Amino acid sequence: MDQKAMYQPVTREIVAELQAVVGEKNLIFDDAELLRNYSHDEVAGPEYARMPEVVVRPASAREISEIMKIANRHRVPVTPRGGGTGLSCGAVPLHGGIVLALERMNRILEIDRENMVAVVEPGVVTSEIGKAVQEFGLFYAGYPMSFESCFIGGNLAENAGGGRAIKYGVTGHYVLGLEAVLPTGEIVQMGGKRLKDVTGYDLIHLLVGSEGTLGIFTKITLRLLPLPAATAVLLIPFGSASEAVEAFPRVIAEAGILPTSIEFMDRLSVETVYGFLGEKPPRPDIGAMLLIELDGSSRERVDEESQKIGGLFLQAGALDVYVGNTPATERKMWAPRVNLAEAFKTVCPVQSIEDIVVPTARIPELIRELDRLALKYDVVIPCYGHAGDGNLHATPVKKPETAMEVWKKKLPLILTELYGIVFGLGGTISGEHGIGSKRASYMPIVMSPELIALQKRIKQVFDPLNILNPGKIFP
Ligand code: LAC
Ligand code: ZN
Repeated sequence: MDQKAMYQPVTREIVAELQAVVGEKNLIFDDAELLRNYSHDEVAGPEYARMPEVVVRPASAREISEIMKIANRHRVPVTPRGGGTGLSCGAVPLHGGIVLALERMNRILEIDRENMVAVVEPGVVTSEIGKAVQEFGLFYAGYPMSFESCFIGGNLAENAGGGRAIKYGVTGHYVLGLEAVLPTGEIVQMGGKRLKDVTGYDLIHLLVGSEGTLGIFTKITLRLLPLPAATAVLLIPFGSASEAVEAFPRVIAEAGILPTSIEFMDRLSVETVYGFLGEKPPRPDIGAMLLIELDGSSRERVDEESQKIGGLFLQAGALDVYVGNTPATERKMWAPRVNLAEAFKTVCPVQSIEDIVVPTARIPELIRELDRLALKYDVVIPCYGHAGDGNLHATPVKKPETAMEVWKKKLPLILTELYGIVFGLGGTISGEHGIGSKRASYMPIVMSPELIALQKRIKQVFDPLNILNPGKIFP
């Protein structure tokens, strides 16, 4: 059956029912301009957007539960939305219906210093958590590059990774407890403030990364760590991309030090982002650049380690090593990396930002393959990202002289070949942004029919009428 035929349009009667739950001022209907803000995430291109019929902004788990019951009763799809910073169309209401925006549920409910946890609502901006726990000497390790605008609920939905995953792991590592509303409207509690729990299936980590298809998070218990006493950032230019990606695994092995971040930017990325920031790159002959972040329990120790690592990078062919070890210099050194996605979106909006991931030792082969694909398809493929965990944002970009129709035919061919290469290197198509609707049709390249069928059966158990975020993940 046609998906659309499975769903009912949102009528004025349904709107009245929703309004009774969230209140008039927390519902948007009949206002195309306002609704349009909820039709897309950060994926560039109008072809990826879909208009919601209605937006609701609930304030509690109870309200969300009521909304899900109404949606099931009337067979209207519901798409949860956090900060809207996603890069796989996860928050795009593919079949219209209700967008459930979590922006009002933005409270930090508790910071429990003794148990080293924070309890937060899903609409808290990720960077706010770090700021709030810092004064207690605590640290939230999640660090997606959109940390100043993304929501923690969205980080859980996508199991976001980001810039510190090599040392600290991804978002899911820090989720100890969850309150969630199931697609059918029940409110459930899982886990808590305990660090160990093998009671029943690990449902927390089934919901984390389920891209808003299995439940809506309403209360999140996050594990915190002691705040590192000192940090340092090293910005390291190289003559070429291959020199940079071949150097870092050797240096890290020799140094015996695990940085918090090993980020990579190729020449095009460096040129684009410094242009976007209105600044000059640190030198004119940069073929690629690494950004290394270190942290530790004392200033002396971190400075010693950054000296050691810097020296080894120079021996390994780096053109230079710039060190920042004050909050202001570190922020300045992170700026080109943090602003890269935004820079490319602004400078070349017709593009497809990818987040392929391969075993780190295969990155040099991947970089060569990207060069080959760019030539073969006559496109530009800048590449940057989290080299330390093999997760790279290769971004096929349309050349200005290429016609739009030609690009639209080309892109699926490029992605199909790229994903095949990545799979062949022992990698997969998404390390941190998720599948959403953007990559759903490519899943069979990297996953067997048996595994896809198993996951669809799980989805059915949670959501028999396929109400919550339909059209995502699976082809
Ligand atoms: C980044 C986003 C795109 O790493 O994941 O910049
Ligand atoms: Zn990233």
